Amino acid sequence: MKLLLLGDIVGRKTVEHLHKTLWALRREHKIDMVIANGENASDIMGLSAEDAQTLLDGGVDVLTGGNHTFHNRSLYPMLDDSPHVLRPLNVPAAAPGSGETVFEAGGYRVLVLNLFGMFGMDYSGNPFESADRALKRNEGRYDLAVVDIHAEATAEKQALGYYLDGRVAAVFGTHTHVQTADECILPRGTAYITDLGMCGPEGGILGTDHEVILRRMTTGLPQKFTVANGDIRLRGAIVETDNGRAVKINRFVL
Ligand SMILES: [Fe+2]
Ligand SMILES: [Fe+2]
Repeated sequence: MKLLLLGDIVGRKTVEHLHKTLWALRREHKIDMVIANGENASDIMGLSAEDAQTLLDGGVDVLTGGNHTFHNRSLYPMLDDSPHVLRPLNVPAAAPGSGETVFEAGGYRVLVLNLFGMFGMDYSGNPFESADRALKRNEGRYDLAVVDIHAEATAEKQALGYYLDGRVAAVFGTHTHVQTADECILPRGTAYITDLGMCGPEGGILGTDHEVILRRMTTGLPQKFTVANGDIRLRGAIVETDNGRAVKINRFVL
């Protein structure tokens, strides 16, 4: 079973790029399932229903989310209705959508959990407890589980990796947009990487036009965020599993 994990998708050009290229990439690498973080797909701030559908049509099986997911209200009905679009699990219960789904791929039932870190994220509950409860709640409904930990702090992501080691096939970080070179198989068989990196344009600051960020940081004044203009790069990891355990993780930049 081969899973393609894509880091935060930034901007419409990247959505279009994925729509054009992802099915070929899937075939080339014999991918059974694609999970991508979509929180920045619609011009950095959120994910519109239209862009979500374009990404699903383009070959993404499950879209995970993060702190920007709720910025685009057009997604709310889809968050409630589609089993393919998630937002973090550990948010207030009144928020639309779900943070877990089971997707069948390659003959396996794959439980996808989308968790928020606690540090620097508003209104997030404890991700360790949320993961425990979600795994218990879904017992018997899945063959392997994978976890997107959308978090700011590297230590928190690593801690969650060790916490879930041997209980899930993969723990991968999103949100910080800078790919980390620490991909590994943890001692009990969980594939781990602190951050998948970003799918988006080169030449900006985390995908945003660098002039905008510099104006904001040097003046302290709010700015309208615009997407950087460089070539699109895809970043993430391919995880191979056998009987619910990870056997290989390869980080990539395309
Ligand atoms: Fe992001
Ligand atoms: Fe984020």
